[in-house]
Amino acid sequence: MNLLYEGKAKKIFETENPQVVLMEFKDSLTAFNAQKKGSFTGKGKLNRDIASLIFFRLKEAGVESHFIENVGSNSMKTKKVEIIPLEVVVRNILAGSTAKKMGRDEGEVLPFPLVEFYFKKDELNDPFISDDQAIAFEIADRKTLEELKVKALKINEVLKKMFELMNIKLVDFKVEFGRTTKGDILLADEITPDCCRLWDINTGEKMDKDRFRRDLGDIDKFYHEVLNRLQKLQMIKSDQLR
Ligand code: TMP
Ligand code: ASP
Repeated sequence: MNLLYEGKAKKIFETENPQVVLMEFKDSLTAFNAQKKGSFTGKGKLNRDIASLIFFRLKEAGVESHFIENVGSNSMKTKKVEIIPLEVVVRNILAGSTAKKMGRDEGEVLPFPLVEFYFKKDELNDPFISDDQAIAFEIADRKTLEELKVKALKINEVLKKMFELMNIKLVDFKVEFGRTTKGDILLADEITPDCCRLWDINTGEKMDKDRFRRDLGDIDKFYHEVLNRLQKLQMIKSDQLR
């Protein structure tokens, strides 16, 4: 199969269907724009399993994504889309770069979910950009930005509730969107502990990539725990349906 693209944590392959690609999750992980590199065995499979369960839940809640089906142990078939070069970040609780920028402590509950756009360009370190900048430099028009905000906030509502049922606080997350050949905008890329901040409600422990960024250790244990709780959620749901 032809490799179309290799990123820091995934590879994208062509398939026999031009509308469909195969997304393979790698065991590697990076932080700070790949200045820090690591990996652990089984990470690709964990993130593939987590992402597919989240896409499945989102679909049930009416949010369409590029996800089609899982393939093998660490890949999934997805609809081929053209990625809009914006990283869309939603924040419920102050943490990370915005806490640093504002000079405030992490953990403050924000008065409303913040939606922020970052220009997806590794060479520039994915800088924060304003709506006007995105429009002026033709990254997206105003209507698209509005659509991305509405979709990102809807995803936030669904995920916040879902994680709460798993005893996890959804602090913030990053999503990417893509356009199909028909022009529809779909949730794309992945939603995994690599691109979310997840704090255990009881213990406050971090269950996401901050364990790697901040050298907290036990990253595999916590990624497993996120998957375990997601799978339990599946069981509760199907039990209730019976
Ligand atoms: P930040 O606080 O570093 O701006 O990150 C906000 C959220 O977005 C956090 O959950 C991690 C995620 N994120 C990515 O997935 N990729 C990135 O390149 C960055 C900077 C953040
Ligand atoms: N995802 C980015 C990287 O791979 C930044 C980060 O997550 O800290 O470097």
